[in-house]
This record gives sequence, C-alpha cells and structure tokens, in this order.
Amino acid sequence: MTLIRTQTLGDVLLIEIDNPPINAGSLGVRQGLHAAIAQLTQDPALCAGVIIGAGTTFVAGSDLREFGQPLQEPQLPTVLSAIETCPKPVVAALHGAALGGGLELALACDARIALTGTVLGLPEVTLGIIPGAGGTQRLPRRTGLVRGMQMVCSGERIQAEAARDLRLVDDVVDCDLQLHAVALARKLPGKCRISEETVPHEDTDAVAQAEQTALKAGKRRPAVLAAIEAVKDAARLPFAEGVARERTVFQQLRVSTEAHALRHQFFAERDAVRLPVDAQAKPRTVDTVAIIGAGTMGTGIAIAALDAGLSVLLLEQDSAALERGRQRVADHYQGRVAAGKLQASVASGHEARLSPTTDWTQLARADLVIEAVFEDMAVKQAVFRQIDTHARHGAVLATNTSYLDVDAIAQTTSRPQDVLGLHFFSPANVMKLLEVVRGAQTAPDVLATGMALGKRLRKMPVLCGNAFGFIGNRIYNAYRKQCEFMLEDGAWPEEVDQALQAFGFAMGPFSVADLSGLDIAWRMRKAQAATRDPRERYVTILDQLCEQGRLGRKTGAGYYTYPEGRQDKTTDATVRGIIEAASAQRGLQRQPLSTAQIQRRALLAMVNEAALLLAEGVAQRASDIDVVLVQGYGFPRWEGGPVFWARQQDRAQLAQDLQALAIQSGHGFVLADLSSVLEP
Ligand code: NAI
Repeated sequence: MTLIRTQTLGDVLLIEIDNPPINAGSLGVRQGLHAAIAQLTQDPALCAGVIIGAGTTFVAGSDLREFGQPLQEPQLPTVLSAIETCPKPVVAALHGAALGGGLELALACDARIALTGTVLGLPEVTLGIIPGAGGTQRLPRRTGLVRGMQMVCSGERIQAEAARDLRLVDDVVDCDLQLHAVALARKLPGKCRISEETVPHEDTDAVAQAEQTALKAGKRRPAVLAAIEAVKDAARLPFAEGVARERTVFQQLRVSTEAHALRHQFFAERDAVRLPVDAQAKPRTVDTVAIIGAGTMGTGIAIAALDAGLSVLLLEQDSAALERGRQRVADHYQGRVAAGKLQASVASGHEARLSPTTDWTQLARADLVIEAVFEDMAVKQAVFRQIDTHARHGAVLATNTSYLDVDAIAQTTSRPQDVLGLHFFSPANVMKLLEVVRGAQTAPDVLATGMALGKRLRKMPVLCGNAFGFIGNRIYNAYRKQCEFMLEDGAWPEEVDQALQAFGFAMGPFSVADLSGLDIAWRMRKAQAATRDPRERYVTILDQLCEQGRLGRKTGAGYYTYPEGRQDKTTDATVRGIIEAASAQRGLQRQPLSTAQIQRRALLAMVNEAALLLAEGVAQRASDIDVVLVQGYGFPRWEGGPVFWARQQDRAQLAQDLQALAIQSGHGFVLADLSSVLEP
C-alpha cells in the first residue's frame, strides 16, 4: 500500500500523506516522503513542494508501535534533512493535528500554513521520551526558550492562531487549505530554514523560572530533565550539534522501561474504550442528563456534563439541599472565571443549561438519569422506584454507587435492561476515570451509551462487571488491607506512606484514608461484620481510631494528627500504642519493613487481586486494570500500572513472593493464578 501520493500541480509537487486514521509517521510514510523529496529535487519542471495530510489530519504523531523496536531507515531526521537540503522550498499544509513527529516535519519545511482549528504540539515527554527529529532545536528558535520549554516539557497542544502568534506557522486560513498552500509555495522567494535562525534573546531569570516550573510540573521525570537540557542546547549549541545530542538522548529514552510503561498506558487507554462483541451497539441519543442528589458527586457530575454542552436537570429531595448544590456549581464557575480559566460568557452559558428542581415529574425530560444519593441500598432502591415512575420510556438509568449491587438496584425498576452503573470519581469534574458497570440485564445499547457519555464528558470509560467494588475499589481494598497487615507486622503508617510515595503514588494509603475520612470504611466494616469469616486476618486499628473520634483530617486526627490543618510527619503515641497492641494481640513480634519490602507487598497484593478480577470476568482485559489504577487511584503512570509492573518482574521470584504474601496475609487471602496478568 502506498502511503504517500504525489501529484504535480503545474510547477508545484503536491505530496499527500495517506496513512489513516491519523497519518502516523510510520516507516512507509518516511520512505514515501523521502522519495517524493528526491523527485522534487530532481525534476527541473518543479519549483516547490507542498506536504499535506489526506483525510481529517496532517500527521498526528509517529507510529508508537515502532518505538519498541530498532528504527529502520530512513529515520525521520534523514527525511527532514532531505527537505532542508532540497534546493526548492517546501510548504507544510496543516489541518487536524500536527503533533510530535508531525510538528517536527512541519518545522523542517520552509513555511507552514494551517487551517483554523488545527492543534500543534510536541507530546513526546508524556510518553517518556523527547522529540527526536529536531523538535527541541527548531521550536525554540521561533518561540524562545521560555515558551519552548513550556511546550516541550508539558506536551501542551496549542491552536493554530496561538502557533501563528509564536511564529510557528506563517498563516492561518479558514478554507481551501491546499489552494492557499500551493499559492504560498509559488510565492516563497527561496529556502527558509528555521535551523539557520538563532533563538530570540530572553531574560535569564525568566528562563530559570520556566525551568523550575517545568521541573515541578513534570515531577522531575527523566524525560522532563532531558527536555529542559535539549531546549537549552538550542541556544547554546550550533544546530547540527544540538540535533545530534537530541537524537542520542531520544534513542536512550525510547528504550527505557519508563517509556515502555507510558506507551503501554497509551495503548491500554485506547483499548479500554472498546466494548466486547456482544455489547457493540449504537448508543442512544443523550442531550439532557438528570442527576439525582446534589451532593459532592452530583454537583461534580453536573459540572462535567455542563462543560460538555449537555443540558442538566439537578434534582434534590428538598429545596435547601438543592440550593446548596446549585450554589456549589455557581461557585465553581465563578472561581474558574476569577482565576482567568474561563470566559464569563462561557460560564454563564454553562450555568444557563442547569435546571435545579425538586419536582420529580421533570425527570420525563431526561435522556439519561444518574443517581448520586447516599450510599445506602434502601435509599437507592426507593429513588429508583421514583425514577421508574417518572423517566421516559427508553431513558438510560444509571447509579453512581461505589460498592452496591447494580442488579439489586435495577430490579426495583420495571426496566432492568436500561440500568447500568456509572461510577465517577471525586472530584467528578476533574477525575478522568469512569467505571461503566454492566448489570446482568443491561442492554448492549445502554452500555454503549454509557461509554459514549464517558467520552463526551472527556472521561476515560472502562467497562466493569457488577461485583463488589467493581475494578478500582476492589483492587484498592486489597492494597489497603495489605498495608494494614504491614502495620501489625512492624511498619508505622508514615513508613508505609513514604515507601509508596517514593514508588510514585501521589499519596500513601493512610494519608489518603485520613483525607477521605475513616468513617466511610468504618461504616462499611460494620455492615460486613456479620458475614465476615472469624478466621480471616482482620486488622482493627482503623476501627479503634474511629472509636476514639479520630475520623481523619476533618476531625483533626486520624492515623496522623493535623495541628493547624497540616499533617504531622509521624504518628503520635496514641496511634503507635494502638498499633503495638494490635501486633501483640495477634502474637506478632514487630519486625521493621524496608521501603522495598513495603512496596513489593503492596504491589503484589494489587497484582493478585487483578488476576482474581480477570478470572471472575469483572475486568474485560488485563490492561484495563492499569488504566483504572493510573486514572483513578494515583498509581504512577510512568510505572504503567500493576499489570505492567508485574510483567517486568522475574517470574519465579514473583511466584515465590506471592506464596510468601499468602502466608503473611493469613486466612482469607485467595492466591490467584497470575498467568492472565502476565501474558500480554
Ligand atoms: P453526599 O452525601 O455528598 O450527597 C448525596 C446527596 O443526595 C445529598 O445532597 C442528599 O440530599 C441527596 N439525596 C439523598 N436522598 C435523596 C433522594 N431521595 N432524592 C434526592 N436526593 C437525595 O454523597 P456523595 O459523596 O456525593 O455520594 C453520592 C454517591 O456517590 C454515593 O453512592 C457514593 O458512594 C458515590 N460515590 C462517592 C464518591 C466520593 O468520593 N464521595 C466517589 C464515587 C462514588
């Protein structure tokens, strides 16, 4: 298949990249481009070239599948230097996206013209690498170091107009891109190589400031450190040396475990949205969403829906609660406007689509209903009876429950086929993850609607089976439980938290517990007490803290104390006393645990649970579990997720450590067969 088509338009050679769906810069594309540039160079009848993308985009990136293997010639720098050495000017005509290698290609041309709406950026750092074909050298020669550092280190995407202001594109047009590009190519007086320009002078303090900001935002990851140095090279080295250095670093990072992990996440996220064959159906149309319960979650979901352009009906049990919810939404938009993040007119447009009400008959207007009331089966069932009475025929009915049985909720309606779980994460307008829960009777088009809504709300929807805690909370519980075992075995909460933070979690489990409130888990533990196997290893530390009124940050104390609202670095004597007593009661001689031991036990517990979830069919595929943990639970993206982590371990050692974990965890620990996790 030929991925590059050429066509002569008088004295201009039109070079069209046709590698659907995103015109990724694969080997075939590079070969075709290289040949086309040779044609342009050699044919005396031609005076200039135009490179354009077929379909909906220019080049939205390189072919990531090639990044794990040795790269074949012609590599991108070879193609780009052919463009630069070609004596005839080449224009890049951009539409859709010019990202990564796509933008590098454009920057190596002599001029760039973009259609309004085109996005441009160098997202390589988000994949653990740096641009490898001159992106870090050419871009700052136009933008300056400050803006260049911002763009390269964050992977930020900018619009065509912003790119014009930065001189990254020469012109922006509304229509007839090809026509304008050909006209521009004919008009160009000759070659105009960015590589021959110098980086505009900037204040050194501003550059240092940009560097610090980039380091912090990029969590000092290797790719960010390398990107900063590469961008600085643009100002301090001749172009040839700068690109050579950039290429060396790119090659080193490309084969690193971190880059591999980030590519794994990229593909995992792409796969996660694919529904199984038996659930592939056309989504139902959704314009109006009704949300029941205007609490923390209800208002967060409302904001997400308003931001996505939907009409939102917000329903509460009484007008006082409704007013509090409405005010929370209003405060959110006011805050965004005050912070300069949103135009006042856009905010008021969003708010105008919100209809707060206490009138259940209004529900008939909704295409999709999301229940976000208290986490109590009786309350939810009563609410679903009401929904069943008032929602129109064919409306999709969703529950945002965290743990409850979706089928038991669906059964209270006359239409369980229309019911599914849509488990959002807090804050719901920010967190990307959305667990889409399939009940026993959920219809395929209802599931498809849930997934489509997720995408529309710019979430990362992941399909889950209807089982306690779905995917995320189930794995998180196994992890937290293991961390509690480690407290009894000899670690202090701060040691566990620090070890897991050092691994890369945003927060350790005990700090998280304090932040969200220990009473949520306490209530659930009490509810489960009657059915708990008395032989199970059950750690009572959390219950004892709660009994003493230590419910976490909100009461000034939990695992940690919070003088003046700030978390004490170490746990106090009361907590240590409770922990030591718990160890003694279990007859355990407390043994210190190293950082590595803590990390390994916590991760093994996750991996074991992941294998159980796969065996039970709760997760559709192993990589979905990584998406859930990274997008919803602060698992470090650069470690790829628990499944990716497990695949990097020595198999025999993993099996041996898991056996040991089973013994340490005692009765109730179900040892899983890891093969489903380990085989990609
Ligand atoms: P919340 O207590 O902040 O809000 C619940 C709201 O529902 C209250 O405003 C209450 O007045 C309203 N409500 C109760 N009964 C009602 C009824 N019959 N009709 C209309 N409104 C009614 O609770 P939150 O945190 O927003 O949780 C809601 C649901 O979301 C729960 O199922 C919870 O498990 C789930 N969830 C919570 C998360 C969190 O981090 N808070 C995360 C993910 C899910």
